[in-house]
Amino acid sequence: MKFTFVTLFKNIMQGYFTDSILKRAIDKKLLNVNYLNPRDFTNNKHQKVDDTAVGGGAGMVMNPQPLFSTLDFLKKEDKDVHIVFLTPVAKQFTQNDAKRLAKKSHIAFVSGRYEGIDERVIENYADEVFSIGDYILTGGELASLVICDSVSRNLSDVLGNADSLRVESFETELLEAPSFSKPKDFKNNLVPSEYLKGNHSRIRSLKLVLSECKTKFFRPELFLKYNCTKVVDFLPKKTKH
Ligand code: ADE
Repeated sequence: MKFTFVTLFKNIMQGYFTDSILKRAIDKKLLNVNYLNPRDFTNNKHQKVDDTAVGGGAGMVMNPQPLFSTLDFLKKEDKDVHIVFLTPVAKQFTQNDAKRLAKKSHIAFVSGRYEGIDERVIENYADEVFSIGDYILTGGELASLVICDSVSRNLSDVLGNADSLRVESFETELLEAPSFSKPKDFKNNLVPSEYLKGNHSRIRSLKLVLSECKTKFFRPELFLKYNCTKVVDFLPKKTKH
């Protein structure tokens, strides 16, 4: 899968791909990452990419011309490219979007800086527009990395272990059950004993209960959506005295 980042600030993005899972995916040729700088597509001799807002308002807005030219170039190179804009005023990106976008062959992320992008660029070129949350970042670069990361890990072979996709949070309405590693006792903090006994059906039942508790506590609105149809058989066994 190919990703193109349309950004004035390639340097703040590149580091993300120099280590760990995404680097391995690039090395294995599962991912191909490119950058286009709208400044390289300007018609003016000072390579200016922004201007004050028409109609007033604080800050600088990215001009249409450099972005129109960049995106025309991109579409000419690949007519199937899926163009995504990042802005805090769009629909919030979700795990379902990540899974859907993982089926595309080429996604281009267009990051705005300054006060934003001239709306005519979005109107002419956006296949989709996403926000990553109700807060304002200094630009779309981090948001596009977030989306790229979560799309990438839904590509087959990017993650080592396919199971880590199947049972994670947001695959159902429930959050994932807590995980533990070794040792069993760390400074008097114990791993739940049921996890250690090797009865996988009881471990599954316990994990379901813990998932439900965690979801109810941290994300009550998700818990409301969760339709609890399974009878959970995880009551502590009566101990004989
Ligand atoms: N650009 C600035 N803030 C953003 C956000 N929250 N999501 C996406 N793009 C942004």
